[in-house]
Amino acid sequence: MALRLGDTAPNFTAETTEGSIDFHQWLGTGWGILFSHPADFTPVCTTELGAAARLKPEFDKRGVKCVAISVDPLKSHQGWIGDINETQKCSMNFPIIADPDRKVSMLYDMIHPNADATFTVRSVFVIGPDKKVKLTLTYPASTGRNFLEILRVIDSLQLTANYKVATPVNWENGQDCIITPAVKDDEIPKLFPKGARHVKPYLRYTPQPNR
Ligand code: BEZ
Repeated sequence: MALRLGDTAPNFTAETTEGSIDFHQWLGTGWGILFSHPADFTPVCTTELGAAARLKPEFDKRGVKCVAISVDPLKSHQGWIGDINETQKCSMNFPIIADPDRKVSMLYDMIHPNADATFTVRSVFVIGPDKKVKLTLTYPASTGRNFLEILRVIDSLQLTANYKVATPVNWENGQDCIITPAVKDDEIPKLFPKGARHVKPYLRYTPQPNR
């Protein structure tokens, strides 16, 4: 069955371009993102990996470790990294899992047989420090993902994990947040000392509490 939000991200061991890993050990106590690529030496995947590598300082700032996966073998990944670095003006700086037997891809339900019998779709799993799945995304092979959107979601996930807020449509880090409905009006001054704007009884905004 597909992984759902709140499920424990299954553990596995795998060969990667940066050595063997035990996934949970590799994650340690921080956040992680695992994302799949249909195949090596493919154009869209090449641009995605370049973008992710260039954004590594932003993932680091948020305490998020990145790991990619494709069903091709390690030797193929190693050759592909040369092309990624050359064409995307980056230096690959996180591991790519080799999954030729599709063990991890099957564990994470990344192969959708009605889309393609062999290759993974573009899955994204954001995993919290408690090893629970916090976000899943599934894109078809023909559509590259937006890694700035993934950073934006991580900002929201990390904020809402620590404060009784939610983030509204198109929210960006630094903008006002929504006070969750479970918070009573009389709790607001203590929980949100920066103040609140009441638009409706159920729609209350507050400045981002952790800024
Ligand atoms: C790509 O990464 O460019 C790609 C991979 C599989 C199918 C279509 C595009």
